[in-house]
Amino acid sequence: MFARIAGSYDFLNHLLSVGIDRRWRRAAVDCAGDVSGRRVLDVCCGTGDLALEFRAREADVVGVDFTHEMLVHTSGKKRASEVIFARGDAMRLPSGDDSVDFASVAFGIRNVEDRALGLYEMMRVVKPGGRVVVLEFTTPPGWILGGLYRLYFRFLLPVIGRLFSGDNSAYSYLQKTVMAWPSPDRFLDEMREVGLVNCEFRLLTRGIACLHWGDVPSGAGVRSGALQPVGSLESQATPERGAP
Ligand SMILES: C[S@@+](CC[C@H](N)C(=O)[O-])C[C@H]1O[C@@H](n2cnc3c(N)ncnc32)[C@H](O)[C@@H]1O
Repeated sequence: MFARIAGSYDFLNHLLSVGIDRRWRRAAVDCAGDVSGRRVLDVCCGTGDLALEFRAREADVVGVDFTHEMLVHTSGKKRASEVIFARGDAMRLPSGDDSVDFASVAFGIRNVEDRALGLYEMMRVVKPGGRVVVLEFTTPPGWILGGLYRLYFRFLLPVIGRLFSGDNSAYSYLQKTVMAWPSPDRFLDEMREVGLVNCEFRLLTRGIACLHWGDVPSGAGVRSGALQPVGSLESQATPERGAP
């Protein structure tokens, strides 16, 4: 599905969010603190916007996504040649334990088949004391704004999405997955359940999006959970051709 909408993804992202998505990504980088010279793994990086936002703050960044067609559209973006974009599965990240200072994911974890495993993988690759940052849509609280948002998501978004992307199902899928997404409190629990500590969230734009973060605990044995990576991807960690 992401392969089909890759060509119109950036345009629709900015259109449907009226450009606010850029501000949300900047907020995600802010929440990592000073990233200059630090290593960041951006998971489900898509067309690279969050990875590039980290790079703009002088971080050493690797972006990973399993959809080749999305990665191709990182090409030509400002500073894209300074980021490594590679194919890889969020449920089996092509990075070693404790190999980065931060792991991030924007509008991606919702699509990962086993999101506990996705979170666990991000925690695995981050050094003790480092941080996992998750940016995701959520449903605004309150019946007026929440109601308007649901109407927009249910009726308007699929039509605009279909019109511009030419894909009949992608934006209905977006609507379904966002509506099925857990509340910020519940997702906070999911982050704690995989072993992250100091977990917090902040609603953005009155709760249209939500930023979650949690730290990887210091000390031995933190990764002794029962979760194990599943599945495989043919081209794990293959540097993306066509991407700089
Ligand atoms: C909605 S896009 C988000 C892209 C980007 N992070 C952004 O902020 O615009 C979701 C991305 O997640 C990727 N994705 C979904 N499941 C994945 C998985 N298990 N492993 C790697 N990438 C995945 C898709 O290929 C797609 O590019």
